[in-house]
Amino acid sequence: IPVDPFDCVVFGGSGDLAERKLLPALYHRQIEGQFTEPTRIIGASRSALSHDEYRKFAQEALKKHLKPGEYDDEQVKIFCARLFYISIDAMSDQGWSELKKLLDEGKDRVRAFYLAVAPSIFGPISEKIRDHKLITKHTRIVVEKPIGRDLASALHLNDTIGKVFPEEQIFRIDHYLGKETVQNLMALRFANALYEPLWNAQHIDHVQITVAESVGLEGRAGYYDTAGALRDMVQNHILQLLCLVAMEVPSSLSAEAVRDEKLKVLHALKPITEANVEQATVRGQYRAGASSGGAVRGYLEELEGGVSNTETFVAIKAEIGNWRWAGVPFYIRTGKRLATRVSEIVITFKPIPHNIFDSAAGRITANQLIIRLQPDEGVKQSLMIKDPGPGGMRLRSVSLDMSFAESFSVRHPDAYERLLMDTIRSNQTLFMRRDEVEAAWQWIDPILKGWETSSQAVQGYTAGTWGPSQAIALIERDGRTWHEA
Ligand code: BG6
Repeated sequence: IPVDPFDCVVFGGSGDLAERKLLPALYHRQIEGQFTEPTRIIGASRSALSHDEYRKFAQEALKKHLKPGEYDDEQVKIFCARLFYISIDAMSDQGWSELKKLLDEGKDRVRAFYLAVAPSIFGPISEKIRDHKLITKHTRIVVEKPIGRDLASALHLNDTIGKVFPEEQIFRIDHYLGKETVQNLMALRFANALYEPLWNAQHIDHVQITVAESVGLEGRAGYYDTAGALRDMVQNHILQLLCLVAMEVPSSLSAEAVRDEKLKVLHALKPITEANVEQATVRGQYRAGASSGGAVRGYLEELEGGVSNTETFVAIKAEIGNWRWAGVPFYIRTGKRLATRVSEIVITFKPIPHNIFDSAAGRITANQLIIRLQPDEGVKQSLMIKDPGPGGMRLRSVSLDMSFAESFSVRHPDAYERLLMDTIRSNQTLFMRRDEVEAAWQWIDPILKGWETSSQAVQGYTAGTWGPSQAIALIERDGRTWHEA
């Protein structure tokens, strides 16, 4: 469905995010026929570029980042014709009146300001936008993580933006919420009658959330070393996944209904503090090893001469203190340079209460629902069946297997495509509300503090493995094992 005509101003328009994600995403939306004319994309950054130089930049970005067959000369020409560029300085008044002049040509259009810049200038840019009277009633502002590095800095950042924009105009992106398979979690839970009656402590033994990456620092040492896996992945993406798994059924898909339920989960997370941080968490850092068939350097070598305690891996046993989830552990793990790239959520149901089969039938394994987020997106439900044949009652676990690639031949839109269009449509369901971000930090802060005060060691792990052995012990202590992804 086409969206209203819009002007999207991308601050950091010649930067990495614009090049890799935003421009290709917008191009795809044009091809899918979602734009209504006149729609413009305005790159803004400090570099001195002309409109034409920016069009050239975009053309190169598309050449580099589109998949084979997606680059279409005619479509790229149309796309470039909607591109403009303003050289602007967030810290001074340079360029702002030119931007105003350009935007004034479309006063009634939807106007989105995408801040693809360092969070330290979210505040100054917001203020300039206000001071130059660029805010209309159809304006939205889009920001992305890191939204703070602890609760205090997140509060400060939210306050600064909140002084200029009301919450309904602020779109905080967590790109995991734009992934097809993540949205599918809601479809699976709330469009099927099958699971919801079982979705609680009475029937579920435990939940695992794994977000494993095979990549290392990818040239982002400067940012990553000040963040670490807990801030980079758990505070946002993984807690969002956990919320979608654990939340109560919202009364509708409206932004407020969904976000109210997610917030309750965040508030119900049991605190991990200095007192239990060593039992409930494992921190790791990769050493040299092998990845994708080649030798790779360790984290410290990638930092080039640094000494660092930053974790590139974290495993956590989290618990939710409410009726639905009492006593059901949520085991979380994420890391860089792990054995493979895979993200999945595994729901393990309770064992059957009484076994009527004799020992020759074999072991009965508990049912598992495996939601594979990436790659090879799909859903699997394991079931026990009788092994076919006359050999008596032998039981075996098989899976009902729904692979997205096999079931649907359509292209999977990138998360940013969905999120950008939701911004234009002003639908905040898949964006984080201020209180969610802050509640997530409220849970993360004591873990960070606990690590500091207890001087919990960062365990080394060989690149290309599943992380430190302590992470395996974390779950095996409870008589369970990580699902082999
Ligand atoms: C980002 C993190 O938010 O997510 C990166 O900053 C990480 O460190 C990335 O690599 C993972 O996203 P995806 O979509 O590749 O799973």
